[in-house]
Amino acid sequence: MSVLVTGGAGYIGSHMVWELLDHGEEVVVLDRLSTGFDWAVAGAATLVVGDIADQELVENVIREHEVDSIIHFAGSIIVPESVSDPLGYYLNNTVKSRSLIESAVRCGVRHFIFSSTAAVYGSPKHFPVGEDTELRPESPYGTSKMMTELMLRDCAAAYDFDYTVLRYFNVSGADPEQRTGQSTKGATHLIKVACETATGKRPHMEVFGTDYDTPDGTCVRDYIHVSDLVNAHYLALKRMRNGKGSLVANCGYGNGYSVLEVINAVKDVAQKDFEVRVSGRRPGDAVAIVAEAERCRQELDWKPRFDDLNTIVEHALNWENKLARRNRE
Ligand code: UFG
Repeated sequence: MSVLVTGGAGYIGSHMVWELLDHGEEVVVLDRLSTGFDWAVAGAATLVVGDIADQELVENVIREHEVDSIIHFAGSIIVPESVSDPLGYYLNNTVKSRSLIESAVRCGVRHFIFSSTAAVYGSPKHFPVGEDTELRPESPYGTSKMMTELMLRDCAAAYDFDYTVLRYFNVSGADPEQRTGQSTKGATHLIKVACETATGKRPHMEVFGTDYDTPDGTCVRDYIHVSDLVNAHYLALKRMRNGKGSLVANCGYGNGYSVLEVINAVKDVAQKDFEVRVSGRRPGDAVAIVAEAERCRQELDWKPRFDDLNTIVEHALNWENKLARRNRE
């Protein structure tokens, strides 16, 4: 019996692979390596290079590896990119997910965990944001993920399988043991960009908008350590295998930090000042979004270990330094 991790060579997926291996699971990764890296899982799990919408390939993998559960990360993840390329996002995140779900149903895979996003909420009026808040995505990215959530809900009602949808808030940090981390080239996520600037890979960075209706005028987000996030997936897998049924849960800590607070944390932890330029608002950005995080703790008995901004930043910086050393060698 094994777990199929789509997008397992990517940032979050590769942390998931290590989490599963640490718990003694058999893991097979399906990744087309468009943004992921084979070295992220090399020697640890079986890697199949291919597309999640190649049903012949996917179904062969499921049968050959006796896959009982799929954890689905593969997809496109950049909010502003989705605004300029909505069709690309609906293809990668919605249409291809439909194909993967169909393969899962056909092959009798019983458990499906889906990597969703807080972007399905848009800019909610009340904080923190609970799972029953109305879904009003403001970007094609959020809409593309919401559509897959709805497909899973309807398929679980019609066919013999359970699903868990985990709605991620802002995932950041890296494996404390530095086995993997965020290695994406041209990454756009705030903590990654700030760490690249602190380690000299970028001459300066930008703050996208300082005129929002927040205490310091910059957007507020709930940053969650990637290792805590993948642990929630492992607990969700155990929960479904124990017959507890489907679940939709937020993955965040319930703490909000502004863009400026994050940048200052990076400067503090790195003990380095760097140039920060103020520029205009970025398309598709929600003003503020912070999780109501109780359901994950209660339903999964989730006990986060890294709920601290400086720890997240420290692990992200350690990984950035490791990447810099690797590039020099
Ligand atoms: N930001 C900057 N400068 C940068 C990068 C980001 O000011 O160089 C700002 C953004 O404008 C935004 C905040 O930092 O206000 C966070 O931006 P990220 O790109 O790090 O993350 P997003 O909030 O856009 O999106 C992420 C995930 C989504 C998820 C969302 C939920 O990519 O999947 O968090 O809050 F839905």
